[in-house]
Amino acid sequence: MGLLKVVDFAGLLVAMLLLFTVLLMGSVSGIGVNWGTQATHPLPPAIVVKMLRDNGIQQVKLFDADSTTLNALKNSGIQVMVGIPNDMLYTLANSVQAAEKWVAKNVSAHISSNGVDIRYVAVGNEPFLTTYNGSFEAITLPALQNIQSALTKAGLSSQVKVTVPLNADVYESPNTLPSSGNFRANIQALMVQIVQFLNANGAPFTVNIYPFISLYDDPSFPPDYAFFNGYSSPLNDNGRIYQDMFSANYDTLVWALQTNGYGNMSIIVGEIGWPTDGDINANLQNAQRFSQGFMSRYLAGQGTPMRSGPLDAYLFSLIDEDAKSIQPGNFERHWGMFYIDGTPKYQLSITANSNGLVAASNVPYLAQQWCVMSPSASLDDPQVGPTVSYACANADCTSLGYGTSCGSLDARGNISYAFNSYYQIQNQLASACRFSNLSVVTTTDPSTGDCKFRIMINVPTALQSTSSSVGSLKQPVGLLLFLSLLILSIL
Ligand SMILES: *[C@@H]1O[C@H](CO)[C@@H](O)[C@H](O)[C@H]1NC(C)=O
Ligand SMILES: *[C@@H]1O[C@H](CO)[C@@H](O)[C@H](O)[C@H]1NC(C)=O
Ligand SMILES: *[C@@H]1O[C@H](CO)[C@@H](O)[C@H](O)[C@H]1NC(C)=O
Ligand SMILES: *[C@@H]1O[C@H](CO)[C@@H](O)[C@H](O)[C@H]1NC(C)=O
Ligand SMILES: *[C@@H]1O[C@H](CO)[C@@H](O)[C@H](O)[C@H]1NC(C)=O
Repeated sequence: MGLLKVVDFAGLLVAMLLLFTVLLMGSVSGIGVNWGTQATHPLPPAIVVKMLRDNGIQQVKLFDADSTTLNALKNSGIQVMVGIPNDMLYTLANSVQAAEKWVAKNVSAHISSNGVDIRYVAVGNEPFLTTYNGSFEAITLPALQNIQSALTKAGLSSQVKVTVPLNADVYESPNTLPSSGNFRANIQALMVQIVQFLNANGAPFTVNIYPFISLYDDPSFPPDYAFFNGYSSPLNDNGRIYQDMFSANYDTLVWALQTNGYGNMSIIVGEIGWPTDGDINANLQNAQRFSQGFMSRYLAGQGTPMRSGPLDAYLFSLIDEDAKSIQPGNFERHWGMFYIDGTPKYQLSITANSNGLVAASNVPYLAQQWCVMSPSASLDDPQVGPTVSYACANADCTSLGYGTSCGSLDARGNISYAFNSYYQIQNQLASACRFSNLSVVTTTDPSTGDCKFRIMINVPTALQSTSSSVGSLKQPVGLLLFLSLLILSIL
């Protein structure tokens, strides 16, 4: 009897310790990732959720509130930021009912009946980018207010916080020193109103910071300053030393907030990462260097000179998206830590005891076959130009070009790459490898070195975006420019 009691007591103690550990772990959330789905063949959500769990990822940020995605996240233990696309802001800003409907359908329903752990609603995505010409300036705050009221009315305001993911171009420093940071002059008053509103609702400021873009935009930007390994001419801001651009940029925001009276506002880094293809600086080595540099700092709980504590951040991004607009640049389809099929691109530790990224499991592929230029076809055939341009317009040729993974292919290799990309995106339909008799299907992998001729994954057609939305020139200027360069270089 007495012995039994002791055992019971010990058991109880163990159970309590376990519970305590679980509670403690629940509050330490770990790194988040952005899960975008602008792909011709998105991996099925259930496979992605398993991959997130296998990688110890506990937070995801979505760009919409797609119900298939949210259903896959139910009871996963993963915390979720759902998103409202910019094109919905107008409606939500002008109608309280629309906001209530949005919250009822896309937040409340998933929380109450599906056990989805929604923590944030991202209202808009970088709505104040200068390239939008101010189109969303008048409607973002009203949309934010309406979504907040709807959350409050639904009784969710303490569990679910609103925020607006903003590009780092909403603040600036006239002399590049973080301590001179303030919001961009033309939206200064608006930014202060938004910050005031977020603060009043206990909501965080969300910012996307991209050292890669700084390097891409400015040839004189010192490459080492984009990474986290130290930079020989650091920035000295009144004794605060900046050896990496991320910290200087983040602290410019901290100063902008402080200058306007909100120095304690919590900050989420909504997107941070490095692309692996489509530009001379976008490659596996640089992406690994950047991401591991960031993760090492993150895992050490090290912040910036102004905010030394742990960072809150979402890596950009989880998986490549081959249907994204390439208007920002050809790198835009290559931000993933994983390829389209869920295989990791490089070695990266994103949790304290990880041994690298874990691939998606049970991924179905199409057959091991490729479409290439027929050995008997001639480079001088007048159909070469038009067929390649057709293939690239409707598929993905962003891995061709100077400094990219397939940048050193010869002319025949270039043509084969274009044909194969189209063939795979068209699910290896026989009719998708009939480029005026210039092409042929082969079972020999044409890949060489880093230049991969990929086999597409075999996903239900229901998940696939229609081929017209892929190459359909959402951003015709960039694509056409790229195509004419491609054609010129081939002919
Ligand atoms: C819920 O979110 C989805 C996906 O973002 C969107 O298409 C839909 O319109 C939203 N529902 C409502 C009622 O606003
Ligand atoms: C912004 O303005 C420029 C120049 O006036 C124009 O070319 C572009 O299409 C505009 N963009 C949007 C999103 O309105
Ligand atoms: C910010 O937080 C610190 C420490 O928690 C506190 O001492 C300070 O008064 C706060 N400042 C503001 C402006 O709330
Ligand atoms: C392709 O080749 C076949 C057989 O050699 C021929 O009949 C056909 O006209 C060719 N098609 C084109 C578009 O050149
Ligand atoms: C292959 O295409 C790329 C992209 O247009 C071009 O830069 C390269 O020069 C081409 N190579 C050959 C040998 O045509």
